[in-house]
Amino acid sequence: MIKIWIIYHTKHGNCKSACENLKRILCEKFDVSIGDVANIKPEVVAKDSPHLLIVGSRIIIGSPDKKVKKFVNKLGSNLKNPISKAATLYTHSLEWDSEYAKMARILEDNKIVKEVLPEILNIKMVKTKGPAEPNQDKNINAFAEKVAEYIIK
Ligand SMILES: Cc1cc2nc3c(=O)[nH]c(=O)nc-3n(C[C@H](O)[C@H](O)[C@H](O)COP(=O)(O)O)c2cc1C
Repeated sequence: MIKIWIIYHTKHGNCKSACENLKRILCEKFDVSIGDVANIKPEVVAKDSPHLLIVGSRIIIGSPDKKVKKFVNKLGSNLKNPISKAATLYTHSLEWDSEYAKMARILEDNKIVKEVLPEILNIKMVKTKGPAEPNQDKNINAFAEKVAEYIIK
């Protein structure tokens, strides 16, 4: 079964909840592991050699969370070969700015992954701490479908 790892960091639980919803959908077809970067070791993810990595991050001062950036860089230094594919998602509370989506470049430029799904999932919060704006399930479902198509392409 194709292996996927979903890694994320969360302060108020919204990024965790989006990633867990994504996992629930994807694990019907794939072998999916999930973890908060605060609780897992990059070595564990590297050892699994996932075919696809999903990276979830909250946006802090216009950029993905430092903890997630640090984790993916450590993951990169533990890999024998880059992970084939990746997909990225973000939680944020201000109007979405495409400049926020820096994770794809970090993953590709540092050769942590070979390629990244161009479509991203961005989930807007009603307030800084959440909750997410209504009807996110539809967006998460649509993103999961795109990821599923991308992984077998
Ligand atoms: C110090 C700080 C800076 C933030 N900067 C931004 C920002 O630049 N743009 C934005 O849209 N949201 C920003 N936010 C809102 C966070 O993205 C939001 O709290 C987070 O996505 C919620 O996710 P979580 O529940 O997983 O922690 C900021 C929040 C904090 C606490």
